[in-house]
Amino acid sequence: MSIIENAARRLEQVKQSPSVRTDARAGEPAKQTPARLPNLANANAQPAGQTSVAPTPPKHHVEIDLERLQQMGMVVSNGERSAVAEEFRVIKRPLLRTAAAPSRGGAGNPRNPANLIMVTSSLPGEGKTFCAINLAMSIATEKDYTVLLVDADVARPSIPKALGISAEIGMMDILCGDRKDIADVLVHTNVPSLSLITAGKGHRYTTELLASQDMATMVAELARRYPDRIVIFDSPPLLATTEAQVLAMHMGQIVVVVEAERTTQSQLQEALRHLDGCPNVSLLYNKARRFSTETAYGYY
Ligand SMILES: Nc1ncnc2c1ncn2[C@@H]1O[C@H](COP(=O)(O)OP(=O)(O)O)[C@@H](O)[C@H]1O
Ligand SMILES: [Mg+2]
Repeated sequence: MSIIENAARRLEQVKQSPSVRTDARAGEPAKQTPARLPNLANANAQPAGQTSVAPTPPKHHVEIDLERLQQMGMVVSNGERSAVAEEFRVIKRPLLRTAAAPSRGGAGNPRNPANLIMVTSSLPGEGKTFCAINLAMSIATEKDYTVLLVDADVARPSIPKALGISAEIGMMDILCGDRKDIADVLVHTNVPSLSLITAGKGHRYTTELLASQDMATMVAELARRYPDRIVIFDSPPLLATTEAQVLAMHMGQIVVVVEAERTTQSQLQEALRHLDGCPNVSLLYNKARRFSTETAYGYY
């Protein structure tokens, strides 16, 4: 029995609420190595020596270079039929079903609204950010939903670099009290139904701030203001710090990324122990190798 099946079985035993098992693979390695990303690019930056005559974009709007994202092997919101796009179509469906189901929480659940989805894993490098972005992009193509992607990995925020945007103020600025209104930190993008909140400045007491009543109020507000909005939190790893565990307390659904051939059974078990009591925990099997005989759309 695979570690995923073991873990799924354990989840079934441990949790009262049934969890969704999401084990679709998140694609083959991207053709271009994401590590070769240009330095944090401001997509609006002018080439050296060129004077700008274009109007400055609104402060709360960023341009995501979708072509570059596509070259990196990620999902983009143009409905293209890449293998990774097909896989995230499968992965998002049960999450959206749970978000919409009143019996599982729904946006109206005051404690753990099911439209708040955290993407986490045991350790760094297993693909949390990759999966969070792809999930957000895939949900952004849905007619009935909008998406807010929150970079909640305050110690190692990586969404700006992956999307090629510049990050200024963000979530932590609200929690520190430097900003009062979510609108101050919410950034719209060139993908009409996708907006972002970046991590903001690091803080010595990040865990305490994430555990604070202000955080509870902020996430409740994010969940409630637009019930058709899915909020995806790219989180830190569960076994490295206490931050992910604290974040998980606020969430209605948790996706645990398991890296093929890397995450061990004991790491996964330990990570799941940190999520005891959390509703709707599912597993996402990432970076699985594809057998050469399989086609991209093998489940047809
Ligand atoms: N399914 C995948 N296919 C190809 N590359 C992936 C996949 N998942 C993750 N990666 C790459 O692996 C590296 C680590 O992923 P990342 O999402 O940053 O991990 P984490 O957020 O868990 O630390 C990144 O370079 C990312 O682009
Ligand atoms: Mg990450």
